[in-house]
Amino acid sequence: MKIFIDTAKLSEIKVACSWGIVDGVTTNPSLIKKAVDALKAKSENIEMEAYIKQICETVGEGKPVSLEVISLTKGKMIEEAEILYHRFNEVAGNVVIKIPIDTYDGESTTSDYDGLQVISQLSKKDIPVNVTLVMSSEQALLAAKAGAKYASPFAGRIDDYIRKNLDIKFEKQDYFDFRLMEAIGEQRFYERIEDTSGKSPQSVYLDQEIKKCIDLAKDKGIGSGVDLIKSIMKVYKNYNMKTELIAASIRNARQVREMAEAGADIATIPFNIIKEMIGHPKTVEGIKSFVADVVPEYSALFK
Ligand code: E4P
Repeated sequence: MKIFIDTAKLSEIKVACSWGIVDGVTTNPSLIKKAVDALKAKSENIEMEAYIKQICETVGEGKPVSLEVISLTKGKMIEEAEILYHRFNEVAGNVVIKIPIDTYDGESTTSDYDGLQVISQLSKKDIPVNVTLVMSSEQALLAAKAGAKYASPFAGRIDDYIRKNLDIKFEKQDYFDFRLMEAIGEQRFYERIEDTSGKSPQSVYLDQEIKKCIDLAKDKGIGSGVDLIKSIMKVYKNYNMKTELIAASIRNARQVREMAEAGADIATIPFNIIKEMIGHPKTVEGIKSFVADVVPEYSALFK
């Protein structure tokens, strides 16, 4: 599995690249904001064009850097995609443009499905596209059909969504225990069914509250972010689709392992989670005892 770093902080990108484990970078407007805020907090100014050029250069040729458009209409998105691609791809030939699968913002009454149109038009022009905000296999299938080079399913946000539907409070980096979630969902379902004792099967069948409790711990049959990745991998494999899957919105190290077991092509991982992957209490213990056990005869070799 390739590892991308999910950050716009140049300092983090430089460190992770020095470890020799970075195959690419993903950014989005929120990550750019975090990078800008962090620099401003240190009273450092940022010259955005030079800053992004440095990111592209640091990661280097053959290692994609995803940059996202900011508008929601077709014409504007294409314009922005071309600006980003032509301005930054000349640095190391590694720019990929992030386009949302859907631009509907929950408010406008119509949507022209501009996301899909833009993905397809840019792909035809050989501008590589990373389709972002993918939350279902259905969207991932459409992204691939439209010619996307990459699709980024947001695994962590699906876990968040399922927990929210179950009224569970959680910390962002908590591990999503799918067995526990399933058990909680089933418990709600059986509690609800028990309430209907004495009612006719027909009225139970028509009870809307019971319908809501079926698969409460799932998002239309998808039980977790990892489940979503597995589902998309299966769909892409079934039809030999070339779009590469980037497991995104990763919350903890255990989830990275589950993504790798599921066969994700790429995982894009925040810097703090890459660090979490490195550590283990038994490694700390082992280091301590190795250092304590060094005999003078052995250390003399290095003098
Ligand atoms: C990367 O492509 C995504 O934008 C990112 O992983 C989203 O992560 P979040 O859900 O933690 O914001």
